[in-house]
Amino acid sequence: MKFSRKIESCSLSPIRKFLPAELAARAAGRTVHHLNIGQPDIETPQAFFDAVRDFGDRVLAYAPSPGVEVYLDAVRDYYATLDASLERGDILATYGGSEALQLLFSCILDEGDEVLAAEPYYPNYHTFIRTAGATIRPIPTHAENGYRYASREQIEPLINERTRAILVTNPGNPTGVVLSREEQRLLLDIAKEHDLFLISDEVYRELVYGGETPGTMLSFPDGAEHVAVVDSVSKRFSATGARVGALISRNQELIHHALKICQGRLCAATLDQVGAAALYRAMTPEYAAAIRQEYQRRRDAVVEGLRKIPGVRFSVPEGAFYLMATLPVDDAEKLQYFLLEEFEDRGETVMYAPGEGFYATPGLGRSEIRIAYVTNPAELRRAVELLGLGIRAYQAKCARAEKHAS
Ligand SMILES: Cc1ncc(COP(=O)(O)O)c(C=O)c1O
Repeated sequence: MKFSRKIESCSLSPIRKFLPAELAARAAGRTVHHLNIGQPDIETPQAFFDAVRDFGDRVLAYAPSPGVEVYLDAVRDYYATLDASLERGDILATYGGSEALQLLFSCILDEGDEVLAAEPYYPNYHTFIRTAGATIRPIPTHAENGYRYASREQIEPLINERTRAILVTNPGNPTGVVLSREEQRLLLDIAKEHDLFLISDEVYRELVYGGETPGTMLSFPDGAEHVAVVDSVSKRFSATGARVGALISRNQELIHHALKICQGRLCAATLDQVGAAALYRAMTPEYAAAIRQEYQRRRDAVVEGLRKIPGVRFSVPEGAFYLMATLPVDDAEKLQYFLLEEFEDRGETVMYAPGEGFYATPGLGRSEIRIAYVTNPAELRRAVELLGLGIRAYQAKCARAEKHAS
């Protein structure tokens, strides 16, 4: 059968594709530690489960296509605390941030269009943008300067007649870079001057360490036409299985077009939206401070462990719960298979996400990995220790093979 060129130019997610090798390692009796996937182990706030339990309807009916009112109102009221004044009609309930991204790209992209995004980026952006017919034009960034990219010099030369949007992740996955308020302002100015959408994926919003949280792009009063925000309860509410997110924009034309697809897919899950409404109401300064503090402890555990591994280079992340690291190996994907298929220490091994899938530029990221620091510090310390031991074993194996060949 023939498949579309669009889908054939996509790959399986570097975060999930090692599952078969992981299952084989488990079947062989080994314990696999996870640094690969952004699945937090912090408990989902009880408010979610209470709201679902108290749901009184006798029929679990379709929700309205834009979302259930309690959810839309809770999202609106939460944004009011961030100085973003929204109407219920500016918000569409979606299946996670993932569907919000897909809706956006379906509405604004045509075949051959381009979206600017800082590289390395969240790999699923590639899949969603490619299946909408367009491509990512990467804004190169580097660990040496903390992966910063918000400057005219870096962005404007990449804009051409096919550019439709600037896509930012703030705080960033996979680099942990956090845009300052001034950088957010500059990006909006550039988007406005070149008549581009500014898509701001803010699913990690409250997770910023040691500095001011940058606020939302929605709070710039003059951004109404250009700004679209992607939000989700997955990460900062530890509710990845709820599959509830939001596409938010004061551009009513955009919402109107996105609603066509929302009506086509009927609605997002009714009960999960009811639970998610309670989560947005539970985002108090105390809750935000508590999760921030916990993830900072986790980040610090990983940073401390990585500093002990010879030859590993990285920039300390400012936000979200990820870190990109360059390893002293030729190919991080080969190392991952070695770790799952050949290596163990006391019956244990480790997984991460190899870096190549986070880049559009061919050849980049091969020695890099993304680490998700979402489990408790003791677990993370052991996982990073295993990474160090695994690298040493892999290097010894490569050295033996080289000696044998010469
Ligand atoms: C930057 C970013 N955006 C969006 C998502 C989508 O998450 P969800 O669909 O669970 O909201 C993720 C998930 O890892 C992410 O890292």
